[in-house]
Amino acid sequence: MLLTEIDHVAIAVNDLDAAVDFYNRAYGAEVAHREVVERDGVEEALLKVADSYIQLTSATNEDSPIAKFLERKGEGLHHVGYRVDDCAGALKAMVEAGATPIDKEPRPGSRGTTVAFVHPKGAFGTLIELVQE
Ligand code: CO
Repeated sequence: MLLTEIDHVAIAVNDLDAAVDFYNRAYGAEVAHREVVERDGVEEALLKVADSYIQLTSATNEDSPIAKFLERKGEGLHHVGYRVDDCAGALKAMVEAGATPIDKEPRPGSRGTTVAFVHPKGAFGTLIELVQE
């Protein structure tokens, strides 16, 4: 088994501060990490749940994939991050199993991780991110 944990569940939101405030009032959740990832055009707030995260994600510019997602589908579940020990190896295994990579090879993600995205087509309709800490 290549997956070691659900790393995060990513939810696209229009207003990151409003979403963080809601999660705080509703669940008592605190922000463990907040980061602008300029190359992806996103700002993320990570709320820790046991050894996983809820990742609230908003767009930092109109061309961001998150901005396009919000325009097309509105707020909601955007992707699931699966934690792995070896991102390159897990990506290779997924491709060999018939999945379509978005990232041809692993690249830097937020909080110092190494990540690779895999297209929802060929992965049963869910955008998957492989996350190596
Ligand atoms: Co993610």
